[in-house]
Amino acid sequence: MKLLATIAGLAVTVEGAIIENGFNVQNVQNVLQSALSMTSRPTSKPPNFLFVITDDQDLQLDSTSYTPHILRHVRDKGTSFHNHFVTTALCCPSRVSLWTGRQPHNTNVTDVNPPYGGYPKFVDRGFNDNFLPIWLQEAGYDTYYTGKLFNAHTVDNYHSPHVNGFNGSDFLLDPYTYSYLNSTYQRNHDDPVSYEGEHTTDVITRKALGFLEDALEGDRPFFVTVAPAAPHSNVDPTSIVDRKKGITMSAPIPLDRHKHLFQDVKVPRTANFNPDEPSGASWIRELPQQNQTVVDYGDFFYQSRLQALQGVDELVDTLVTRLEESDQLDNTYIIYTSDNGFHIGQHRLPPGKTCGFEEDIRVPLFIRGPGVPKGFAQDSVTTHIDLAPTIFQLAGIPHRSDFDGTAIPVTPDFTGTRHEHVTVEYWGRGVLEGDFSHIIGGSTFAPNNTYKSIRLLGPGYNLYYSVWCTNEHELYDLSTDPYQLHNLYPSESRNIQDEPRILGRSLSQAISRLDTLLLILKSCQGNTCIEPWKVLHPEGSIHTLRDALDEQHDIFYDQQPQVSFNWCDLGYRIEAEGPQDHLTTRYGLSWDSWV
Ligand SMILES: *[C@@H]1O[C@H](CO)[C@@H](O)[C@H](O)[C@H]1NC(C)=O
Ligand SMILES: *[C@@H]1O[C@H](CO)[C@@H](O)[C@H](O)[C@H]1NC(C)=O
Ligand SMILES: *[C@@H]1O[C@H](CO)[C@@H](O)[C@H](O)[C@H]1NC(C)=O
Ligand SMILES: *[C@@H]1O[C@H](CO)[C@@H](O)[C@H](O)[C@H]1NC(C)=O
Ligand SMILES: *[C@@H]1O[C@H](CO)[C@@H](O)[C@H](O)[C@H]1NC(C)=O
Repeated sequence: MKLLATIAGLAVTVEGAIIENGFNVQNVQNVLQSALSMTSRPTSKPPNFLFVITDDQDLQLDSTSYTPHILRHVRDKGTSFHNHFVTTALCCPSRVSLWTGRQPHNTNVTDVNPPYGGYPKFVDRGFNDNFLPIWLQEAGYDTYYTGKLFNAHTVDNYHSPHVNGFNGSDFLLDPYTYSYLNSTYQRNHDDPVSYEGEHTTDVITRKALGFLEDALEGDRPFFVTVAPAAPHSNVDPTSIVDRKKGITMSAPIPLDRHKHLFQDVKVPRTANFNPDEPSGASWIRELPQQNQTVVDYGDFFYQSRLQALQGVDELVDTLVTRLEESDQLDNTYIIYTSDNGFHIGQHRLPPGKTCGFEEDIRVPLFIRGPGVPKGFAQDSVTTHIDLAPTIFQLAGIPHRSDFDGTAIPVTPDFTGTRHEHVTVEYWGRGVLEGDFSHIIGGSTFAPNNTYKSIRLLGPGYNLYYSVWCTNEHELYDLSTDPYQLHNLYPSESRNIQDEPRILGRSLSQAISRLDTLLLILKSCQGNTCIEPWKVLHPEGSIHTLRDALDEQHDIFYDQQPQVSFNWCDLGYRIEAEGPQDHLTTRYGLSWDSWV
């Protein structure tokens, strides 16, 4: 690996390897300009955007390696953000969070269906008049969207009200959103149309290309979103309507022309794949080890996902080729990501998401466009709530104070606040998919899957800390345990002598900081979500876990109320969520200066 540069304090990497920080910014920009033949940032018309968001696409199981067009057109011509996370590993909460720039605890759209989520909840919360496409139209953009917007956006409620904010839209509607061979789309204010017998990815490719033509013809800059259903499971529409036994989800259905591919692929056999010892917390710890039939099925499921993604790969090729033929490519950002990740067999789990493990919360994020370094991998910690602020910054629109995220360092001239944490939150039930998913009381749902977590990555640490509604805790040190098999949270049985240390401090000191950080982040708003330590240390000297671990703050952190739940609720009910307030410092002095 060749060390190239660090831009504006960011570590950047070449060919996937990480470079630590520490270079002169001006110098670095010169190096980049000459060495990397970057497209220069145009000054006249604001940039266009093509945003492609897949459904349930993992990063950790290596799905992106099987999409050569996406890698060639987007990743290799731009930057790959390899520490990019979602806030909630479930479609609808994650998407509402993305399109509003807010944590799910601030949208309170926390589930896929009412009363806690889905399109009706999005509308009730006022977001149909207050989300990204509306703001972009106000800023002079033409906006287009095709594919899945939210769950519970149905053939019955699509017109009450219609989705606002788009100059052209053609939405997939429930209960046919995930019917690969009988999808229903609904264009502008027209009636829904059923595409029985056509593959949904062929349908969306046609629609996306049509909107791209419209967008290219317009005088205003454009924002075109394409949201295919792949590689989400195929879902039986009758099971969405009648959910008594859970939802019937089977492997995604690829296009006929891709069904012969990848016959020998298997789910990567990482250490956490169907492990001999149980792992995780709550219902996950109770899962039986999978037998060979179930393991084989997981491999089939994985293969089907990779095949189904080939249609998306061709879709991206078609759209980027069209952009290349236009005169707009050099002024267009192309963003590729997914709404949440996916697991198959890790921690003995059947196919699905809804967990806080790496497989579920890490997703691909590739961005190419004006000024974006080519062929780079970036290790800044970024999340889906950062995307709306990023789009604002790239479009030259002023930041909104109700954003819980902050712009991602996409271009070398980026100036802004970085963060080392992701706030992960989930309410409700775990969802199990595939043929062997009726394993908990005969249902495809797992109860008590409400949890709050933080994912923290900084120099010398790589941690995941989680508190469940059952008041179980998890702490993984991913620098020594990348597959999250060894929960370090102290149990009564462990000998204190054997305790690992974190940044040279005891586990209990590290946990006191992590828990207080989680206490702040689980109900943060606006800038507090980005700079949480400022709330605890208003004098502004603490910016990282490492800073906070200084011994002089031990008493301050030991006194703080601990994150806990009063019961396991299906939604965000404050009454269920234990202490809300941290202790503050007085007059800017740290606690121990005055107790
Ligand atoms: C797109 O919609 C916005 C907001 O209604 C409008 O101002 C703009 O003219 C529309 N663009 C086109 C091409 O119709
Ligand atoms: C396809 O979907 C339509 C509704 O959009 C439904 O009426 C029809 O029965 C479905 N066809 C099949 C084969 O399930
Ligand atoms: C494997 O496990 C599944 C799910 O528990 C069960 O349905 C199946 O009968 C088992 N197969 C064998 C061969 O034991
Ligand atoms: C769910 O968690 C509650 C504690 O909030 C516990 O009482 C209950 O037994 C759990 N239910 C299941 C099915 O595990
Ligand atoms: C979130 O929505 C649910 C369902 O409407 C409601 O019961 C709850 O009080 C809301 N939570 C907050 C914090 O407003």
